[in-house]
Amino acid sequence: MLLERYLDDLAAATMQEALGLEERPRALLRTTQDPKFGDYQINGAMALAKRLKKAPRDLAGPIAEAMAKHEAIAKADVAGPGFVNLTLDAGWLGRQLAAALGDARLGVDAVEAPEKIVVDFSSPNIAKQMHVGHLRSTIIGWSLVQLYRAVGHEVIGDNHLGDWGTQFGLLIVGMREFGDEGALEKDAIAELERVYKLASKKAKEDEAFAESARAELAKLQGGDPENTALWERFVATTRQTLEAIYARLGVRFDEWLGESAYDAMLPGVVETLLEKGIAREDQGAICVFFHDMDPGAIEGAVEGYALPKRLRKQKQPFIVRKKDGAFLYSTTDIATVLHRKEEMGADRSVYVVGAPQALHFEQLFAVMRLLGVEMGLEHVSFGSVLGEDGKPLKTRDGKTVKLKDLLDEAEQKTREIVEASRAEGKLRIAEEDLDEAVATIGIGAVKWADLMQNRATDYKYDPEKMCSFKGNAGPYVQYQYARVRSLFAEGGLEYEGFEAPIAPEHEAEVGLARVLIRFGDVVHRAAEGSLPNLICDHLYEVASAYSRFYTQCPVLKSEGETRETRLGLAALAGRQLEKGLELLGIEVLERM
Ligand code: ARG
Repeated sequence: MLLERYLDDLAAATMQEALGLEERPRALLRTTQDPKFGDYQINGAMALAKRLKKAPRDLAGPIAEAMAKHEAIAKADVAGPGFVNLTLDAGWLGRQLAAALGDARLGVDAVEAPEKIVVDFSSPNIAKQMHVGHLRSTIIGWSLVQLYRAVGHEVIGDNHLGDWGTQFGLLIVGMREFGDEGALEKDAIAELERVYKLASKKAKEDEAFAESARAELAKLQGGDPENTALWERFVATTRQTLEAIYARLGVRFDEWLGESAYDAMLPGVVETLLEKGIAREDQGAICVFFHDMDPGAIEGAVEGYALPKRLRKQKQPFIVRKKDGAFLYSTTDIATVLHRKEEMGADRSVYVVGAPQALHFEQLFAVMRLLGVEMGLEHVSFGSVLGEDGKPLKTRDGKTVKLKDLLDEAEQKTREIVEASRAEGKLRIAEEDLDEAVATIGIGAVKWADLMQNRATDYKYDPEKMCSFKGNAGPYVQYQYARVRSLFAEGGLEYEGFEAPIAPEHEAEVGLARVLIRFGDVVHRAAEGSLPNLICDHLYEVASAYSRFYTQCPVLKSEGETRETRLGLAALAGRQLEKGLELLGIEVLERM
């Protein structure tokens, strides 16, 4: 069940009845800052008092009295100027948790209006190394795919590869001059990147070379078979390199519709923009200028659409065709939205892309509104990964960090920590399971470190902290899950499908129960705000509460109802840890 929604409705209905109001008031339910004061508080009496010109405490009194009568509530008291503090009834809590334990969705109800959502994530560029920004997009995007699905949406994960555009002219002439076939087969991205760098340098110094690159690009975009075949090879070899990384990260895509997929639509897009007066010619290029735009004057624009302030101040145009006739990133993105809406039937298109592209998406979304497109468009932005020096993460010699090296390093660090803990007898991972365990823990650590932060903020990359089995880190949470599994193994009990009545009594039992009951709300909030960090916060609380419970409450040695309650709580903690980690794209180990 979604506890908060349930309590909020309950509180509003109770307020209406207790105060004899005609309309249903807003309960303004919040979690309490300090568990000393209970689990939740109703703040609605204050707003209501203002409106009814009464003293808030006079309203709060009858509300508390009526709330206390409900079976879910153990205690309701008036506090401060007129809040009502609520403490949940432990027996009621236990019944809800037992029901969640027997529910395949673990009490995460589906949304009432499911949508079809395209999640555009990872989306690296051919001929360029995936950098940490792409790593963040891949990790966050994959988590969002799981989160949206978990609350009942239909989700299409799309890898919008940067596989079209000016770099291909340079790559074609560059491969001819500097290319190494063997290297291309071995590591396509590295070789293409090397060639691209040499070619773009030469193009700057040598006008004839630059001109031939432009000519090859024009040939490619005109469908020339020889250049098309070359391009196909670049894409195919790059894709192999990428697939290896995605396999390592456990990430899959439903579509790989790169920029090139929209090529045929581009002339039509520009034509429509010109016809509707959204774009105009400026020094030979076709541009959308926002600073002097009046959306009301554009036929077919979304009714009542107002341009964001930042765009109205923006003199920099959104260019959709260059002077030489080439189309751009912006043009393919417009075509992509149209395709997602019309061909895929999507209700929402979500872009998991770093903060530096904020203006691009603002401009893109504005153009779509001017074209009358009403689907949901959302830029799920994120900050940078920083090195120890607080500047964007670079290798020692100042180069961008390759994704593969970063993952290798995390696994290496994990291996050291795991081997040391095994030597001390703290971890029970068998020799033959070691490689797989190290990969699961190491990759999990990288993902957790990334997802635990609010995605908007930058964070410091700290392999030591990230791989730790203590404190807020992936391995710690995985470890608490494995502890649940070994409890069941030790007791000779079947963990899968385990059900039991739950009646928490001991303080540590109630403490764990109060955390577990929030799972459904947390998953919904994380999906609504595209905020996987809320899942991390919850799982860390579950892991900590479980650890406290486990130290204070013997499980296998207890008896009767107490034993059932404890096993039930442990099983539900295990399920939430496993499901929650799955929503983050992190795998678990049964034994650690
Ligand atoms: N290829 C782009 C980059 O690496 C990201 C693409 C994001 N998706 C999009 N539809 N614009 O910066």
